[in-house]
Amino acid sequence: MEIGKYLKIKREDIDEALKNCLPKEDTYPPKIHQAMRYSLLNGGKRIRPILTLATSQAIGKKADLLMAACGIELIHTSSLILDDLPSMDNANFRRGRPATHKVFGEAVAILAAYGLLMKGLGLIAQNCRKTKIDKKVVSQIMEDISEAIGSCGMIGGQTVDLDSKAMDLKTLEYIHTHKTGKLFVVACDTGARLCGASEKERQVLKNYARNIGLAYQIRDDILDFEGKRELTGKDERKDRNRVSFVTLLGIGKAKEYANELVKSSIYSLKIFGTRGKILRELAEYIVEREN
Ligand code: IPE
Ligand code: IPE
Ligand code: MG
Ligand code: MG
Ligand code: MG
Repeated sequence: MEIGKYLKIKREDIDEALKNCLPKEDTYPPKIHQAMRYSLLNGGKRIRPILTLATSQAIGKKADLLMAACGIELIHTSSLILDDLPSMDNANFRRGRPATHKVFGEAVAILAAYGLLMKGLGLIAQNCRKTKIDKKVVSQIMEDISEAIGSCGMIGGQTVDLDSKAMDLKTLEYIHTHKTGKLFVVACDTGARLCGASEKERQVLKNYARNIGLAYQIRDDILDFEGKRELTGKDERKDRNRVSFVTLLGIGKAKEYANELVKSSIYSLKIFGTRGKILRELAEYIVEREN
Protein backbone atom coordinates (compact mmCIF):
# COMPACT_ATOMS: atom_id res chain seq x y z
CA MET A 1 0.00 0.00 0.00
CA GLU A 2 1.33 3.45 -0.77
CA ILE A 3 2.00 5.69 2.20
CA GLY A 4 -0.65 8.33 1.33
CA LYS A 5 -3.35 5.68 1.42
CA TYR A 6 -1.99 4.11 4.61
CA LEU A 7 -1.92 7.49 6.38
CA LYS A 8 -5.48 8.25 5.30
CA ILE A 9 -6.86 4.93 6.55
CA LYS A 10 -5.05 5.12 9.89
CA ARG A 11 -6.03 8.76 10.34
CA GLU A 12 -9.68 7.80 9.88
CA ASP A 13 -9.40 4.95 12.40
CA ILE A 14 -7.72 7.24 14.91
CA ASP A 15 -10.18 10.10 14.35
CA GLU A 16 -13.13 7.76 14.93
CA ALA A 17 -11.61 6.41 18.13
CA LEU A 18 -10.70 9.91 19.37
CA LYS A 19 -14.33 11.04 19.03
CA ASN A 20 -15.37 8.32 21.44
CA CYS A 21 -12.63 8.59 24.00
CA LEU A 22 -13.48 12.02 25.43
CA PRO A 23 -16.59 12.98 27.41
CA LYS A 24 -19.33 14.47 25.20
CA GLU A 25 -19.59 18.27 24.92
CA ASP A 26 -22.57 18.47 27.27
CA THR A 27 -20.92 16.41 30.02
CA TYR A 28 -20.66 18.55 33.14
CA PRO A 29 -18.75 20.89 33.21
CA PRO A 30 -19.45 21.47 29.50
CA LYS A 31 -16.95 24.31 29.07
CA ILE A 32 -13.92 22.07 29.58
CA HIS A 33 -15.23 19.24 27.44
CA GLN A 34 -16.06 21.62 24.61
CA ALA A 35 -12.53 23.04 24.74
CA MET A 36 -10.92 19.58 24.86
CA ARG A 37 -12.99 18.31 21.91
CA TYR A 38 -12.40 21.53 19.95
CA SER A 39 -8.63 21.17 20.32
CA LEU A 40 -8.46 17.45 19.63
CA LEU A 41 -10.99 16.79 16.89
CA ASN A 42 -11.27 17.98 13.27
CA GLY A 43 -7.66 18.40 12.35
CA GLY A 44 -4.21 17.08 13.05
CA LYS A 45 -2.13 14.73 10.96
CA ARG A 46 -2.06 12.09 13.75
CA ILE A 47 1.56 11.22 12.94
CA ARG A 48 2.52 10.22 16.48
CA PRO A 49 -0.35 7.74 17.00
CA ILE A 50 0.25 6.39 13.49
CA LEU A 51 3.85 5.73 14.53
CA THR A 52 2.60 3.73 17.49
CA LEU A 53 0.41 1.64 15.18
CA ALA A 54 3.04 1.25 12.44
CA THR A 55 5.52 -0.10 14.97
CA SER A 56 3.49 -3.29 15.44
CA GLN A 57 3.66 -3.85 11.69
CA ALA A 58 7.47 -3.73 11.78
CA ILE A 59 7.64 -6.11 14.72
CA GLY A 60 5.17 -8.41 13.05
CA LYS A 61 2.97 -9.03 16.06
CA LYS A 62 -0.69 -8.15 16.12
CA ALA A 63 -1.76 -6.21 19.20
CA ASP A 64 -4.60 -3.77 19.82
CA LEU A 65 -2.77 -0.49 20.23
CA LEU A 66 -5.50 1.96 19.25
CA MET A 67 -6.23 3.36 22.73
CA ALA A 68 -2.53 3.80 23.51
CA ALA A 69 -2.11 5.54 20.15
CA CYS A 70 -5.02 7.86 21.00
CA GLY A 71 -3.42 8.56 24.38
CA ILE A 72 -0.25 9.72 22.63
CA GLU A 73 -2.32 12.04 20.42
CA LEU A 74 -4.07 13.56 23.47
CA ILE A 75 -0.68 14.24 25.07
CA HIS A 76 0.56 15.86 21.84
CA THR A 77 -2.58 18.01 21.49
CA SER A 78 -2.21 19.19 25.09
CA SER A 79 1.30 20.39 24.24
CA LEU A 80 0.00 22.35 21.24
CA ILE A 81 -2.57 24.23 23.36
CA LEU A 82 0.16 25.34 25.77
CA ASP A 83 2.60 26.11 22.94
CA ASP A 84 0.08 28.53 21.37
CA LEU A 85 -0.63 30.54 24.54
CA PRO A 86 0.17 34.29 24.51
CA SER A 87 2.92 33.69 27.09
CA MET A 88 4.48 31.04 24.83
CA ASP A 89 4.32 31.38 21.01
CA ASN A 90 1.26 33.65 21.00
CA ALA A 91 -0.22 31.88 17.98
CA ASN A 92 -3.56 32.74 16.45
CA PHE A 93 -4.22 29.64 14.38
CA ARG A 94 -3.87 25.93 14.88
CA ARG A 95 -5.12 23.13 12.66
CA GLY A 96 -6.80 25.67 10.38
CA ARG A 97 -8.87 27.25 13.14
CA PRO A 98 -8.44 29.86 15.87
CA ALA A 99 -6.16 28.52 18.63
CA THR A 100 -7.93 27.14 21.71
CA HIS A 101 -7.24 30.20 23.90
CA LYS A 102 -8.68 32.46 21.19
CA VAL A 103 -12.02 30.67 21.45
CA PHE A 104 -12.21 29.65 25.11
CA GLY A 105 -9.84 32.10 26.83
CA GLU A 106 -6.47 31.34 28.41
CA ALA A 107 -7.72 29.87 31.67
CA VAL A 108 -9.94 27.26 30.01
CA ALA A 109 -7.21 26.53 27.43
CA ILE A 110 -4.71 25.70 30.19
CA LEU A 111 -7.25 23.49 31.92
CA ALA A 112 -8.12 21.78 28.63
CA ALA A 113 -4.41 21.00 28.12
CA TYR A 114 -4.28 19.41 31.57
CA GLY A 115 -7.50 17.55 30.93
CA LEU A 116 -6.15 16.09 27.68
CA LEU A 117 -2.80 15.21 29.23
CA MET A 118 -4.41 13.31 32.09
CA LYS A 119 -6.92 11.55 29.87
CA GLY A 120 -4.07 10.62 27.51
CA LEU A 121 -2.17 8.89 30.32
CA GLY A 122 -5.38 7.16 31.38
CA LEU A 123 -6.00 5.78 27.89
CA ILE A 124 -2.48 4.34 27.72
CA ALA A 125 -2.91 2.69 31.13
CA GLN A 126 -6.27 1.29 29.95
CA ASN A 127 -4.66 -0.15 26.81
CA CYS A 128 -1.90 -1.76 28.89
CA ARG A 129 -4.49 -3.47 31.08
CA LYS A 130 -6.34 -4.79 28.04
CA THR A 131 -3.16 -6.10 26.43
CA LYS A 132 -2.44 -8.18 29.56
CA ILE A 133 1.29 -7.55 29.53
CA ASP A 134 3.51 -8.03 32.55
CA LYS A 135 2.78 -5.51 35.35
CA LYS A 136 6.45 -4.52 35.42
CA VAL A 137 6.32 -3.59 31.72
CA VAL A 138 3.15 -1.53 32.34
CA SER A 139 4.88 0.51 35.02
CA GLN A 140 7.92 0.95 32.73
CA ILE A 141 5.70 2.25 29.93
CA MET A 142 4.03 4.76 32.25
CA GLU A 143 7.38 5.85 33.69
CA ASP A 144 8.92 6.32 30.22
CA ILE A 145 5.95 8.37 29.05
CA SER A 146 6.10 10.71 32.01
CA GLU A 147 9.87 11.09 31.50
CA ALA A 148 9.36 11.85 27.80
CA ILE A 149 6.84 14.61 28.58
CA GLY A 150 8.65 15.94 31.64
CA SER A 151 11.36 18.47 32.43
CA CYS A 152 14.11 16.32 30.90
CA GLY A 153 11.95 15.65 27.84
CA MET A 154 9.35 17.73 25.99
CA ILE A 155 8.95 20.31 28.76
CA GLY A 156 12.74 20.68 28.93
CA GLY A 157 12.84 21.35 25.18
CA GLN A 158 10.02 23.85 25.40
CA THR A 159 11.76 25.61 28.31
CA VAL A 160 15.03 26.11 26.42
CA ASP A 161 13.00 27.19 23.37
CA LEU A 162 11.57 30.13 25.36
CA ASP A 163 14.97 31.76 25.17
CA SER A 164 15.33 31.73 21.43
CA LYS A 165 17.51 34.72 20.69
CA ALA A 166 21.15 33.66 20.54
CA MET A 167 21.77 29.97 20.30
CA ASP A 168 24.16 27.51 18.69
CA LEU A 169 23.35 24.40 16.69
CA LYS A 170 23.94 22.09 19.64
CA THR A 171 21.37 23.92 21.77
CA LEU A 172 18.87 24.02 18.92
CA GLU A 173 19.32 20.30 18.39
CA TYR A 174 18.66 19.77 22.12
CA ILE A 175 15.43 21.75 21.76
CA HIS A 176 14.19 19.83 18.74
CA THR A 177 15.11 16.36 20.00
CA HIS A 178 13.37 17.16 23.28
CA LYS A 179 10.31 19.29 22.48
CA THR A 180 9.39 17.02 19.56
CA GLY A 181 11.73 14.03 19.40
CA LYS A 182 11.03 12.62 22.85
CA LEU A 183 7.33 12.08 22.12
CA PHE A 184 8.19 10.44 18.78
CA VAL A 185 10.53 8.04 20.61
CA VAL A 186 8.01 7.13 23.27
CA ALA A 187 5.20 6.80 20.68
CA CYS A 188 7.27 4.09 18.95
CA ASP A 189 8.54 2.50 22.12
CA THR A 190 5.08 2.22 23.68
CA GLY A 191 3.93 0.37 20.56
CA ALA A 192 7.06 -1.79 20.67
CA ARG A 193 6.62 -2.71 24.33
CA LEU A 194 2.93 -3.51 23.90
CA CYS A 195 3.86 -5.85 21.03
CA GLY A 196 6.53 -7.59 23.07
CA ALA A 197 9.47 -6.33 20.98
CA SER A 198 12.97 -7.53 21.86
CA GLU A 199 15.52 -5.18 23.42
CA LYS A 200 17.39 -5.02 20.11
CA GLU A 201 14.21 -4.13 18.19
CA ARG A 202 13.36 -1.46 20.76
CA GLN A 203 16.79 0.15 20.49
CA VAL A 204 16.58 0.25 16.69
CA LEU A 205 13.11 1.79 16.81
CA LYS A 206 14.14 4.38 19.38
CA ASN A 207 17.08 5.41 17.24
CA TYR A 208 14.81 5.60 14.18
CA ALA A 209 12.25 7.73 16.08
CA ARG A 210 14.88 10.10 17.43
CA ASN A 211 16.14 10.80 13.93
CA ILE A 212 12.74 11.25 12.33
CA GLY A 213 11.56 13.33 15.31
CA LEU A 214 14.43 15.74 14.72
CA ALA A 215 13.78 15.72 10.96
CA TYR A 216 10.09 16.38 11.61
CA GLN A 217 10.86 19.50 13.64
CA ILE A 218 13.43 20.72 11.08
CA ARG A 219 10.71 20.33 8.43
CA ASP A 220 8.42 22.33 10.76
CA ASP A 221 11.01 25.13 10.84
CA ILE A 222 11.22 24.99 7.02
CA LEU A 223 7.42 25.10 6.67
CA ASP A 224 7.26 28.06 9.03
CA PHE A 225 9.59 29.83 6.61
CA GLU A 226 8.19 28.78 3.24
CA GLY A 227 4.87 27.00 3.95
CA LYS A 228 1.39 28.29 3.18
CA ARG A 229 -1.18 28.91 5.87
CA GLU A 230 -3.86 27.19 3.76
CA LEU A 231 -1.79 24.01 4.01
CA THR A 232 -0.19 24.22 7.46
CA GLY A 233 -3.28 25.63 9.20
CA LYS A 234 -0.95 27.83 11.28
CA ASP A 235 0.27 31.44 11.28
CA GLU A 236 2.91 32.07 8.60
CA ARG A 237 6.48 33.14 9.50
CA LYS A 238 5.83 32.85 13.23
CA ASP A 239 9.53 32.10 13.81
CA ARG A 240 10.85 35.13 11.91
CA ASN A 241 12.48 36.58 15.03
CA ARG A 242 13.65 33.27 16.41
CA VAL A 243 16.60 31.01 15.91
CA SER A 244 15.66 27.96 13.87
CA PHE A 245 17.36 25.44 11.58
CA VAL A 246 16.54 27.78 8.72
CA THR A 247 18.23 30.81 10.33
CA LEU A 248 21.26 28.81 11.53
CA LEU A 249 21.92 26.64 8.46
CA GLY A 250 20.02 28.32 5.64
CA ILE A 251 17.13 26.65 3.85
CA GLY A 252 19.25 24.42 1.58
CA LYS A 253 21.45 22.99 4.34
CA ALA A 254 18.46 22.56 6.66
CA LYS A 255 16.76 20.41 3.99
CA GLU A 256 19.97 18.47 3.43
CA TYR A 257 20.32 17.76 7.13
CA ALA A 258 16.70 16.57 7.42
CA ASN A 259 17.26 14.28 4.42
CA GLU A 260 20.41 12.83 5.99
CA LEU A 261 18.55 12.08 9.20
CA VAL A 262 15.84 10.32 7.25
CA LYS A 263 18.40 8.32 5.32
CA SER A 264 20.09 7.09 8.48
CA SER A 265 16.72 6.36 10.12
CA ILE A 266 15.80 4.19 7.12
CA TYR A 267 19.18 2.46 7.19
CA SER A 268 18.69 1.49 10.82
CA LEU A 269 15.41 -0.29 9.95
CA LYS A 270 17.11 -2.99 7.93
CA ILE A 271 16.77 -5.61 10.70
CA PHE A 272 13.01 -5.59 10.04
CA GLY A 273 13.37 -6.51 6.35
CA THR A 274 10.17 -6.05 4.34
CA ARG A 275 8.15 -5.56 7.56
CA GLY A 276 9.83 -2.14 7.94
CA LYS A 277 8.25 -0.82 4.73
CA ILE A 278 5.66 1.47 6.36
CA LEU A 279 8.17 2.96 8.79
CA ARG A 280 10.57 3.59 5.90
CA GLU A 281 7.90 5.36 3.86
CA LEU A 282 6.76 7.32 6.91
CA ALA A 283 10.31 8.62 7.31
CA GLU A 284 10.36 9.77 3.69
CA TYR A 285 6.96 11.44 4.04
CA ILE A 286 8.23 13.44 7.01
CA VAL A 287 10.66 15.51 4.95
CA GLU A 288 8.33 15.87 1.98
CA ARG A 289 5.22 16.97 3.83
CA GLU A 290 3.65 20.34 3.06
CA ASN A 291 1.48 20.58 6.17
C1 IPE B 1 3.12 20.50 15.49
O1 IPE B 1 2.99 19.12 15.30
C2 IPE B 1 4.15 20.76 16.52
C3 IPE B 1 5.44 20.15 16.21
C4 IPE B 1 6.06 19.47 17.11
C5 IPE B 1 6.06 20.33 14.91
P1 IPE B 1 2.26 18.55 14.02
O2 IPE B 1 2.81 19.19 12.80
O3 IPE B 1 2.33 17.06 14.08
O4 IPE B 1 0.76 19.04 14.23
P2 IPE B 1 -0.64 18.32 14.00
O5 IPE B 1 -0.83 17.39 15.13
O6 IPE B 1 -0.61 17.63 12.68
O7 IPE B 1 -1.63 19.45 14.03
C1 IPE C 1 6.11 22.96 19.27
O1 IPE C 1 7.08 23.47 18.42
C2 IPE C 1 6.56 21.76 20.02
C3 IPE C 1 5.57 21.33 21.02
C4 IPE C 1 4.32 21.69 21.02
C5 IPE C 1 6.00 20.46 22.07
P1 IPE C 1 6.63 24.71 17.51
O2 IPE C 1 6.26 25.87 18.35
O3 IPE C 1 7.63 24.93 16.44
O4 IPE C 1 5.30 24.09 16.86
P2 IPE C 1 4.29 24.89 15.96
O5 IPE C 1 5.07 25.43 14.79
O6 IPE C 1 3.69 25.96 16.80
O7 IPE C 1 3.30 23.84 15.53
MG1 MG D 1 6.87 26.64 20.19
MG1 MG E 1 4.52 27.08 18.21
MG1 MG F 1 7.07 25.56 14.44
